[in-house]
Amino acid sequence: MKAVVVEGYDSIDNIHLKDVAMPDLPAGHVRVRIQAASVGFVDGLKVQGLYQTRDPLPFTPGTEFAGIVDAAAADVTGFAPGTPVMGMARSGGLAEYIAVPAAALVPMPDGIAPEVAASFRANYLTSLYALSERAALRSGEYLLVLGAAGGVGIAAVQLGKLLGARVIAAASTEEKRNFAIRFGADATVDYTQADWRDRLKTLTDGHGADVIFDPVGGEVSLQAFRSIAWNGRHLVVGFAAGSIPALPFNLPLLKGGSLLGVDLAQIPRREPEAYRRVMAQLFTWLTEKKLEPVVGKVFAFEDFREAFKTMQNRAALGKMVVRIG
Ligand SMILES: NC(=O)c1ccc[n+]([C@@H]2O[C@H](COP(=O)([O-])OP(=O)(O)OC[C@H]3O[C@@H](n4cnc5c(N)ncnc54)[C@H](OP(=O)(O)O)[C@@H]3O)[C@@H](O)[C@H]2O)c1
Repeated sequence: MKAVVVEGYDSIDNIHLKDVAMPDLPAGHVRVRIQAASVGFVDGLKVQGLYQTRDPLPFTPGTEFAGIVDAAAADVTGFAPGTPVMGMARSGGLAEYIAVPAAALVPMPDGIAPEVAASFRANYLTSLYALSERAALRSGEYLLVLGAAGGVGIAAVQLGKLLGARVIAAASTEEKRNFAIRFGADATVDYTQADWRDRLKTLTDGHGADVIFDPVGGEVSLQAFRSIAWNGRHLVVGFAAGSIPALPFNLPLLKGGSLLGVDLAQIPRREPEAYRRVMAQLFTWLTEKKLEPVVGKVFAFEDFREAFKTMQNRAALGKMVVRIG
């Protein structure tokens, strides 16, 4: 089978499609014929060895995928060959086949295209868990989404609207701000401008942001926290800007605001009830067509490098997807 193989932590141009052996099917595992896999910010860091943990070389990148069950180990039930599934793994998604523990898979809801299923779970689960379980976002509250046109940001824009919030999307270019408007944002701010907090103040009638969804980090996080409303909640989601901000402790005191961490990887293990609740809500909205997940751009398998480069260049609108097979 064909797979993207990272043989050294190097430039994206030195990663190639190779012929590799089909994955084995140990007990408890399911082998999936992959139809689509997505490329997120973390995948871009991983192939360059810049992520906090390093996969031993060589490895196949890709943490989120969708496809059809090819075979299941004898001790696995519920995943008959031919079942459409979506899955998450530490790596291995950018390949024609992957074998994963059955627990890593979820049957694909009817009528969901593989490109959607491959780009849906991580970002929408993270966003809804953050907004509803961590921040308890209420209808009518002001939600400020930083990096609003990125993969996880645009999910927060859509889900914020579904939860009834007044959504203000912050992004660096007009194209990105228009993208956020297209998916439901009520207003936008250009947070590259020195006076962006004044505009935010005007947009919220002086109230500030009740909830801040922050996958960006760096200086903009500190500025955003200074514009938080009384009893506001600042969700720490990621550090796409490349630096981890240090918040002076007097600010939460003065603002009556809280800082809340969000980590997708820990949700199913630490909060299985919340995980089930959030996934059930997402699937309900999906099947009711209230939620139409954003698929950024779809690339052919042989063009997988372009998906990584688009992420690297800060040019991505939504999540990048690679079509396989
Ligand atoms: N906590 C969790 O469980 C969880 C889950 C998913 C993602 N994340 C994290 O969330 C962050 C965003 O992920 P994503 O997949 O949404 O990435 P993405 O699609 O690339 O979006 C990131 C956004 O950040 C903004 N940004 C600001 N400075 C940037 C820079 N120097 N380089 C790149 N982007 C920059 C960009 O918007 P502007 O150009 O408009 O500024 C961009 O749209 C990552 O750190 C990721 O690890 C965390």
